[in-house]
Amino acid sequence: MGIFSLAEEVRFELTIRFPVYRFSRAALSTTQPLLPFHYIRHRYNRVNVAMNQVHFLKSFLKDRNVAAVAETSRATVRKILSKIDFSKDLTVVEYGPGTGVCSLPVLERLSPNSRFIGIESNADFARQLRKVEDPRLTVVEGDARDIDTILKKLGLPAADIVISSIPFTFFSPAMRRDLVCRTASVINPGGAFLVYQYSPLMKGYLAESFPIVRLSFSPLNIPGVFIMEARKSF
Ligand SMILES: C[S@@+](CC[C@H](N)C(=O)[O-])C[C@H]1O[C@@H](n2cnc3c(N)ncnc32)[C@H](O)[C@@H]1O
Repeated sequence: MGIFSLAEEVRFELTIRFPVYRFSRAALSTTQPLLPFHYIRHRYNRVNVAMNQVHFLKSFLKDRNVAAVAETSRATVRKILSKIDFSKDLTVVEYGPGTGVCSLPVLERLSPNSRFIGIESNADFARQLRKVEDPRLTVVEGDARDIDTILKKLGLPAADIVISSIPFTFFSPAMRRDLVCRTASVINPGGAFLVYQYSPLMKGYLAESFPIVRLSFSPLNIPGVFIMEARKSF
């Protein structure tokens, strides 16, 4: 079960069934943020999960940049998040959060003083994600390629973690290089750029800006997904 341990499953069950548990935990703990209601609904309500998939497919038919017919599986998301140390306050940026399949579990794990910036080019997805009530979350409707100006406007000097699922395959080689370079310039030493895609294409581009690049594969996804973890140092 890995990072998504039995204890965590039990905590979720308690949280959903007994709202008082949710609030007493938050009152007693300084490190455990309130779970966003949106997340709880989406994770546990099968109808909502199915609606998310329908929403995703509809968006794909309208916007080619959505670039996938279905959102990423929960198993893949858990594998990606296992590469992040959530014990510290972090600034996390996500390129292309879509329906929030990765963003919401990140928010669930982040400390209260952390920040999460979602940069989404699809207006509909951005509007949906803004409905999540969480003071740590900022949703920017825009292009990931403007990462440096977006962080500057938000008064953030750098990011610790950048997660990306945007379709780099649609970019020209020059555009891929430019975004990897810009991302490397805003990531703190010790931070990571986590890229997941249906192809390992970005591994070589990442290696041009990051000395450490690790490649793994998540078969529990349709189709299977390559996860690339790029770091300046550990
Ligand atoms: C393959 S989907 C992944 C969605 C979600 N993160 C997931 O894992 O299911 C790619 C997402 O990136 C967004 N996107 C594509 N190009 C983008 C860009 N240049 N800047 C920001 N978002 C972009 C799309 O609108 C879409 O939401």
